[in-house]
Amino acid sequence: NENVHVLGIETSCDETAAAVVKNGKEILSNVVASQMESHRRFGGVVPEIASRHHVEQITLVMEEAMRQAGVSFSDLDAIAVTAGPGLVGALLVGVNAAKALAFAHGLPLVGVHHIAGHIYANQLVAEMKFPLLALVVSGGHTELVYMEGHGAFQVIGETRDDAAGEAYDKVARALGLPYPGGPHIDRLAHEGEPVIDLPRAWLEEGSYDFSFSGLKSAVLNALHKAKQRGEEIDPRQMAASFQASVVDVLVTKTVQAAKQYNVRQVLLAGGVAANRGLRAALQEKMKELPDVELVIPPLSLCTDNAAMIAVAGTVLYQQGKRADLALNANPSLPL
Ligand code: KG4
Ligand code: ZN
Repeated sequence: NENVHVLGIETSCDETAAAVVKNGKEILSNVVASQMESHRRFGGVVPEIASRHHVEQITLVMEEAMRQAGVSFSDLDAIAVTAGPGLVGALLVGVNAAKALAFAHGLPLVGVHHIAGHIYANQLVAEMKFPLLALVVSGGHTELVYMEGHGAFQVIGETRDDAAGEAYDKVARALGLPYPGGPHIDRLAHEGEPVIDLPRAWLEEGSYDFSFSGLKSAVLNALHKAKQRGEEIDPRQMAASFQASVVDVLVTKTVQAAKQYNVRQVLLAGGVAANRGLRAALQEKMKELPDVELVIPPLSLCTDNAAMIAVAGTVLYQQGKRADLALNANPSLPL
């Protein structure tokens, strides 16, 4: 049997997820139990609540993934689990579930970096062509990752403060929108015009790092000042202006890096990759590089899921990487 079947498990934040993927390409099942409703009234993810939900859900979610895939444990080649980064209590639930299953069924265990998972979601929709550049934008991360081959991650830029999604969520909150606010800002942005002048943090010449806290503060200040003057800022104009600033910086730096590193492919990954403004602007700007392929996964593979962990786990498994039962959750695991 040449086929490789891997069960992926993901519990780094607020989704309890399990999936079975065949040969690192074909999704046999992809189950996600979201806790979003439980966190919404707090305006963000509450770590202790996240851990409890994972404990309640993990067994059901794993069983459902196996059932939908129509495979038994003897058909599996390995179990892959997100070992970090993320919330430590949340990560521990997935790591321990994976260790228990690997031990009980005598299966190899593979620890996966959450960002590697986001990047490898792209392999479910396209063949990866190296060298490539991945823009990873989520609630916890904003990174430009250069890859010369499978498993070879080189972070060439990252945020120095807030992640892009975090900035979206904070600005959304200030505009009175529900958590998570990214999709709401995206929707409002399309109803408004970017008429409000907001800063763009380009940082030093040639740097691929990002910074979004100054932009976030500028929005909060503008809203605060308007309120003091008894004026109203149209939330559609603010959403459009904020989104224009974020997208401008992300797209400009990505295409600049793609040129400098002479890549064959640009991949988009993470929850913010769902942003319509970002997708459209990146597609447009990539016309400057007609020989470089742009890959954008469907929405369900951009947000947290376990299929992406199973794919990255398959690659690592095929490279001979193994974890043992000493595998631990690492909230600040380096890529
Ligand atoms: O990758 P993800 O599901 O979880 C993390 O690993 O963080 O990303 C969630 C983030 C949230 O900040 C959410 O507001 C943002 O992705 N997001 C969006 C959109 N959809 C989700 N941000 C902007 N526009 C969207 N359409
Ligand atoms: Zn994520």
